[in-house]
This record gives sequence, structure tokens and C-alpha cells, in this order.
Amino acid sequence: MKLNLNNVTLRVTAGLANQFPADRIPQIAFSGRSNVGKSSLINSLLNRKSLARVSGEPGKTITINFYDVDSRLYLVDLPGYGYAKRSPADKKRWSALTDGYFTKNPNLDSLKLVCQLIDCRTGPTEDDLVMLDYLRAAGLPHVVVATKTDKLNTTERNAFLAGCKENGLLSSLPLILYSVRTGAGRDELWQAIRSAAELN
Ligand code: GTP
Ligand code: MG
Repeated sequence: MKLNLNNVTLRVTAGLANQFPADRIPQIAFSGRSNVGKSSLINSLLNRKSLARVSGEPGKTITINFYDVDSRLYLVDLPGYGYAKRSPADKKRWSALTDGYFTKNPNLDSLKLVCQLIDCRTGPTEDDLVMLDYLRAAGLPHVVVATKTDKLNTTERNAFLAGCKENGLLSSLPLILYSVRTGAGRDELWQAIRSAAELN
């Protein structure tokens, strides 16, 4: 059955782990540093302009947002990491909330796929690699999504791909090249999501 992308709502904005939805609807999470393009990607997948808030001020709100897609899927917008100007107190809140999602979540079985976003212009940051290493060690299913690929010319794009191939952590993972500007990668990512959530 086709997902009705006109039937989408922001179901839960969770600032605390006990606010995560407890139902068994499959969850697909989007992880990455602040400003990498998580919210833009969710809007692109859902054909919306501004359902997920694209930040003017990166890293300002520390919440996990659950977008309900046709009552059959949650797209989960995780708060970005690596925002240098964040206060120590906010960094602590970020860690508690995000760790809570991955490690103290009684409903972790419902997490079917983590899309780890990497900005193709910078390549993976230290924090991206720590996150990928964590996902691998925890046995959580994940794919890498390179964002903003419209900003690369062919030479830059080949250099980025060569760098990914050489990276031990990245070389064995599925990699989707995405651009919210051109729609590149959208069908491929939807296919990965549908397959992980067993919606096919
Ligand atoms: P936080 O919520 O702070 O963690 O950031 P985020 O990861 O949600 O990033 P967001 O979606 O807010 O995007 C950050 C900036 O990148 C915005 O100015 C977007 O317009 C831009 N952006 C995102 N995706 C793309 C893309 O595919 N191409 C281009 N050219 N710009 C993009
Ligand atoms: Mg965002």
C-alpha cells in the first residue's frame, strides 16, 4: 500500500526520554551534525517546504521530533551534534536526550534504520565517525547519506567518493548521494526506508 504523504503530522516533540512515542510504529532516525541538513532532508522526503524547521540558528532547540507519516512510519529528527557555540548545559541536555534515544529507549526495537548524514563538502567529521562506530558496535541498521551534493562539481564528487572508499568505517556501508535541491537520491533513500520498515 502506498504511503499517503499528505497525511503527515509532527506527532511528538520530545525534550525528555519519557516523551518518546510508545506505540510500535517503525521509526527511521536522521542523525548528523548541526547544519548537515537533517530537517531539510525530512522535508524533501515528505515533499514539504517547511514542516521540519530548517534552522536559521543551528542547534538552538534540543528536542527529538517525531513526524508521523500516514500512521505507518515515524521520521525522527534528532538534534544535531557538534555545534561549537552550545553551552555546557545544553551539551549535557543533548547527550542525555540522544543517549536516551539510543540506549535507554524501551521501544528501540521500533528503530528500523538510522540515516547518518554527512556533509559531502567537508567529508566525515570526527563526531560523524564516532557516531558511525557507535551504530556499528550497537548493531543498529544504518545507511550513510551524503547531503548537499548539488554543491559539488564532478571532480569534487569523485574526490569525496574516493575518500569514502578509503575510510574503513564508510567503505562497507551503503552510501546515498542526496540533494534536496535536485531531488537526487530521494527515490533511493525512500526505497531503503521502505525496505527497512517492511513497507514494501
Ligand atoms: P540542526 O537542526 O541545527 O541540527 O540542522 P539540520 O541538520 O537540520 O540542517 P538544516 O536542514 O536546518 O539545513 C542547514 C542548511 O543547509 C540550510 O540552510 C539548508 O537550506 C541547507 N541545505 C540542506 N540540504 C541541502 C542541499 O541538499 N543542498 C543545498 N544546497 N543546501 C542544503
Ligand atoms: Mg534541524
